[in-house]
Amino acid sequence: MDALAILNLEHRLLIGSMAVIARSTQYERRELITRFKRQVEIHNRIEIGVFYASFGADESLADLPVNRAGRQIVEKSLKMLACHPTDAPDWFPYFNTTREMLIRHMDEEEQTCFFAVRDRVSRPILSEIGRSLLNEKVRLDARELVERTGAR
Ligand SMILES: [Fe+2]
Repeated sequence: MDALAILNLEHRLLIGSMAVIARSTQYERRELITRFKRQVEIHNRIEIGVFYASFGADESLADLPVNRAGRQIVEKSLKMLACHPTDAPDWFPYFNTTREMLIRHMDEEEQTCFFAVRDRVSRPILSEIGRSLLNEKVRLDARELVERTGAR
């Protein structure tokens, strides 16, 4: 599967998870946000560690407009949201700000980096990177499941 299709799908799933959190009760929020934070961390790890790392040696892609600062701001905001009391009156505006930042960051990534990669990287290479992305995602998801549930 094409690496860009996988990452775009991941972005849609993250947006869907945020919609689920937006409709949750204050009692469900803590668990949902904690899981969402892990989902975002795994997404970032495969995106940076596999996808962008694949182009590290390619000088023709050295100018990819990767917004690392934007990603760090989103991660920090999510970390703060995970600690914010779920019954606080400002929880929802706080959540909405984080959601908007995340959506803006993903839109920007799709319209700049992904667009440039689609234009300059061949389909066979994107399929090969896609396989590596999926392998790493399965490995990290399995590890997260074991950590969360204690399953062996
Ligand atoms: Fe992303």
